[in-house]
Amino acid sequence: MAEPLSARALLPLAAEAATHAYAPYSRFRVGAAVQGERGIYTGANVENASYGLSLCAERSALAAAIAAGERRFAAVAVACIDAPDDAGVSERTPCGACRQWLVELAPDAELAMLGVDGTMQVRDLLPHAFALKAKEK
Ligand code: THU
Repeated sequence: MAEPLSARALLPLAAEAATHAYAPYSRFRVGAAVQGERGIYTGANVENASYGLSLCAERSALAAAIAAGERRFAAVAVACIDAPDDAGVSERTPCGACRQWLVELAPDAELAMLGVDGTMQVRDLLPHAFALKAKEK
């Protein structure tokens, strides 16, 4: 198996995935890439005319990975390719819903964001996250 990529090394894959976003309403394209145990999975935001049904890039990538059988993730990258050059971290970081997904599914992963120096740990994204005791088969 190929050497797993670090969160920053996943950034170009996340940026490429963002070019496939379906974002006709916000015109804000986002891509995500996650490193699982067997491979890398990407996702992009998919908007809907019923705005609340829109899906973020992070959940799109995680759902693809879970559907492929992955359960453990080492790294996550997020690329908001339409954020203005002077955008701060708040315009480049995962939203609240995606944080809940990330903390549940990829708590031990490192996170990189396009346009933000360094990395952080997913588990630090959402302190005091809601959680239930898992009963997964
Ligand atoms: N978006 C994401 O894909 N991920 C996030 O974490 C933040 C927001 C998308 C949702 C919507 O399609 C667009 O960015 C503008 O909010």
